[in-house]
Parts: sequence; structure tokens; C-alpha cells
Amino acid sequence: MGMVSGTRDWEEVYKNNSVDELPWFRKKLDQDVKKELNDRKIKSGDALDLGTGPGTQALELLKLGFNVAATDISKSAINEAHKLTNDIDFIVDDILQTKLKKKFDLILDRGCFHTIEPEERKIYIQNIKKLLNSNGLLFLKCFSDKEPGTGSGPYRISESLLRDVFNNDFLIEKILHTEFKGKRTPNPKALFAVMKIR
Ligand SMILES: C[S@@+](CC[C@H](N)C(=O)[O-])C[C@H]1O[C@@H](n2cnc3c(N)ncnc32)[C@H](O)[C@@H]1O
Repeated sequence: MGMVSGTRDWEEVYKNNSVDELPWFRKKLDQDVKKELNDRKIKSGDALDLGTGPGTQALELLKLGFNVAATDISKSAINEAHKLTNDIDFIVDDILQTKLKKKFDLILDRGCFHTIEPEERKIYIQNIKKLLNSNGLLFLKCFSDKEPGTGSGPYRISESLLRDVFNNDFLIEKILHTEFKGKRTPNPKALFAVMKIR
């Protein structure tokens, strides 16, 4: 898809498309998220699905046993996702000026960070810090620099860039080289990072 940034563009995306046709649509829980939760034997807690879009990942977290809040900058996305269930707290919220007051044990970002403009990454990080419990986990999945293409669409994030940007505030427990399973073939190359606040 073309360049997407800012509220209006995201609103257009969700107004004009059915969610199951969007490239990132994945009905099942993301394979890396699933494995990480399994390995750590985490099944419950307060989770935030940040940039929830279609809401499928939030729904899977709910089914696992989490208490889930899910935010997106797009009102249409949130309205649509809300039809999935009443048991998730779906909220229109921009992570760059978040109004959330709660703290979470788990924040999942599947595909939001890589759309944030480079000059706004620090704001993103400060806000994530405010929303995460001191022993909470951030699961971040983004396109990697092994995925061809630049400029438009999601930023390609290298492992060293991720470390540079997050290192001051977050302890990076792992960065996995993986793939984004959705509607694109072949699957875009991705990074999956697990972090904690320092
Ligand atoms: C690639 S999609 C991924 C959607 C969803 N996480 C999933 O895995 O299906 C990125 C999402 O981030 C949302 N988004 C972009 N910028 C945002 C911001 N500043 N605050 C909150 N959500 C944002 C978009 O509206 C979009 O739904």
C-alpha cells in the first residue's frame, strides 16, 4: 500500500476498505506473540493492543485470558473492531498524545511503531513508558531492513536502529528475525522485540 501517516490517512484506510483485505490482517494471534506468551507461561494480566486496527490480535489476547484494552488512531477502525466483542475496551487514542491513564502488564505493538515518523519515535517511547508497569513487557513487531523497499509505507527498521532508539529507556530482552504473516506474499521480513522498562 502507499504512504500512510497521520490521522486522516489512517481514517481513510479503514473507511474505504474491509479490514480482512488489509495487508496486515491476521485472524490468528501473531505467531511470535503466541510463542513468547507460551514460553513465558503468561496467560493473564492487563494487556494493551496498541494500534489494534482490525482488532483481531486484541480478540485473541482476550480469548487467552487477558483483560484487554485496544486503541487506534482511526475512529472507523475502533467502531468496526468494537463489533467483535463488548469485552474489550476499544478506545480511539493517538499514542503520540495518549489520554490513557492506566498502566498495563503487556503492551503489544504489531505494526504501529514502524509507521511512526522518525522524529516522533522519542515521544512514542516516553508514552509507552508511562503506560507500562515497571515489570511489564513490550512486544514490538515491525518491518525489518531485510524487507525490500523504502520511503513509502512502513519504515524498515534494523536491529541496530531499534537498539539505538530504545536502549536508553528499555532493556531489550530479545530481537528475533521473523516474518509478518498477513495478506502479503511473500511474507514481509520483520523483527519481533521483547522489552522491559529499565
Ligand atoms: C499495520 S496496522 C496494524 C494493525 C493491528 N495491530 C494488526 O496487527 O492487525 C497499524 C495500525 O496502527 C494504527 N496507528 C497508526 N498510527 C497510530 C498512532 N499514532 N496511535 C495509535 N494508532 C496508530 C493504524 O491506524 C493501524 O491500524
